[in-house]
Amino acid sequence: MSEILDPIVRRRARRAFEQRPVPPETLKRVVSAAHLAPSCSNNQPWRFIVVTEDDAKHRVSAELSGGNYWGVNAPAYVVVLASLDDDCRLDDRRDYALFDAGIAVGLLLIQAEAEGLIAHPVAGFKPAELKAALGVPDEYIAIAVIVVGFPGADVNLTEKHRTLETSARVRKPVSSVSFADRWRNDDT
Ligand SMILES: Cc1cc2nc3c(=O)[nH]c(=O)nc-3n(C[C@H](O)[C@H](O)[C@H](O)COP(=O)(O)O)c2cc1C
Repeated sequence: MSEILDPIVRRRARRAFEQRPVPPETLKRVVSAAHLAPSCSNNQPWRFIVVTEDDAKHRVSAELSGGNYWGVNAPAYVVVLASLDDDCRLDDRRDYALFDAGIAVGLLLIQAEAEGLIAHPVAGFKPAELKAALGVPDEYIAIAVIVVGFPGADVNLTEKHRTLETSARVRKPVSSVSFADRWRNDDT
């Protein structure tokens, strides 16, 4: 195999959602894909709250930051949580709960893309208020809200976000983040 997998290449953090609900079995598959992720000692520290019911959705969208106004139009949210004490905590700041939850979210995003969905992770929300709104125990960290739905028209987006919907992907050169055999700084 010489190509990067299609859903990985196609996935983008898009913002134009259709309000049509996502079938519950599709959301279940998306979360089940995340739950297949590897984790340190198989601790499976991730927790997901799948939010589709109107009242709960309002409680989540009320805590999104202003720049994430577009999330209000989406039919579903997956709130990603983890507690550091539920996973390996090793020397040199290696707290694996966040890492393992991140792997799980990676799989979730790829499954969602393969299902024809947009799944857009956001960190722009008020974590304490969000947790309170969903009855989450204090020891859990609200890591991300994944805004999920089918692609729709971009009419509710700002000009800037409308442009981003179709803009080229921005990445540093792979050579600046991946090194052969030893650490390298940009100037070495
Ligand atoms: C942890 C995390 C937090 C993010 N938070 C936000 C956010 O609050 N608002 C937003 O519009 N996009 C957010 N994004 C999306 C990124 O901006 C986006 O993934 C990045 O610009 C790369 O674009 P691409 O995913 O289309 O390749 C977040 C992504 C991640 C992984």
